[in-house]
Amino acid sequence: MKSLNLSELGGGSAFRTKLGVLIIGNCVDTLRQLPAESIDLVITSPPYDRQGKYGDGERYERAWYEDFFLKVTSEIFRVLQAEGSFVLNYRSKRYGSERGTLQYELVFWLREQGFLFAEDFVWGKPSPPPGRFHRFLKDAVEYCFHFTKTPRWQFFPENCLAPARWDVKDRERRKRLPHNYQRVDEPSGHGRKRVQAGPDMVRPSTLLHFEPEFGPNPTKHPARFPIELPSFFIKLLTQPDQVMLDPFAGTCTSAVAAEKLGRQWIATELDPAYTAVLAQRLESGR
Ligand SMILES: C[S@@+](CC[C@H](N)C(=O)[O-])C[C@H]1O[C@@H](n2cnc3c(N)ncnc32)[C@H](O)[C@@H]1O
Repeated sequence: MKSLNLSELGGGSAFRTKLGVLIIGNCVDTLRQLPAESIDLVITSPPYDRQGKYGDGERYERAWYEDFFLKVTSEIFRVLQAEGSFVLNYRSKRYGSERGTLQYELVFWLREQGFLFAEDFVWGKPSPPPGRFHRFLKDAVEYCFHFTKTPRWQFFPENCLAPARWDVKDRERRKRLPHNYQRVDEPSGHGRKRVQAGPDMVRPSTLLHFEPEFGPNPTKHPARFPIELPSFFIKLLTQPDQVMLDPFAGTCTSAVAAEKLGRQWIATELDPAYTAVLAQRLESGR
C-alpha cells in the first residue's frame, strides 16, 4: 500500500484535524491528486437522482451518473488499496408507477470498471419520514452496495458483533447441543456443566437497522447519514489509523465517525455551507 501524507492535500484553505482533512471543491480533482492504492475504505452517498443541484432548478439527472459519477468511481478504483472496500449508499427514487432502476444499473457499470460486487447491504429505517404514497407504501430501505478491488478485502466482523436474538425454540435446541457442555468429574462420578447455550453476541447480518438522522439540521442538508451507518462500515472494513475517504461528504458524517473511531479520513464537498457544522460535530462526536 502507498503511503499518503494528508498534510500535503487541500492547500491552506482546508479544515484539518490530526487525523483528517476536509477539502472544499470537486471531488474528482482531489481524487486525481491521490496516489494509487492509498485508501483503505471509500464510503459515500452521492446525490440522489433528480435531487436539486444548485438551487437554480437544475437537478442531478441520469446523465450525471453515466458521465461524471463513473469518472469518480474509476478514480476510486485506482486509489483503493488491494484489500480496500468501496461502500456506495444509494436508492433510486420512483418514476411515476415504477421504481427507478439506476441503483441496479450502477452495480453493472461498476462491475464493468473492474470492481467486485461483494455484498448488497440493506439499510432498513424503522421510522421512515412520513409522506403520502398513494398506491405505494412508505419507502423504508436504501442499499449500501459493497464493492471491492480484489477477493481478499479486509473484513473485521468481530468489531461489529450484535446481540444474539435466538428465538426461544432455537435457544432450547442449542442448550442440548453437546458442544455447549463440559464434562465435570463430580464426586458422584458423573456430571456435566452447561458452558453456554450459544454465543450471546453474533456477527451482524446484511440487514442494517438504523433510524434516519433526526437530529437538528442547521445546514438543511436533504440527505444526511445517521452516524451509525458509516461507523458500522468503518469498523467492519478498516483498522485504526487506516484511511477512509468520503468524496460526497455533505455534512461530513463519515468524517466524524472516522475521527471518533481513530481512523484517518479525507472528506470532499462541493458546497461549503453543508460542511460548516464539522468543527462542532467533531467536538460533540455526533
Ligand atoms: C447525499 S449528499 C451526502 C450526505 C452525507 N452523507 C451526510 O451525511 O451529510 C451528497 C453530497 O455530494 C455533494 N456533491 C455533489 N457533487 C459533488 C462533487 N462533484 N464533489 C464533491 N461533492 C459533491 C453535494 O453537495 C451533497 O452535499
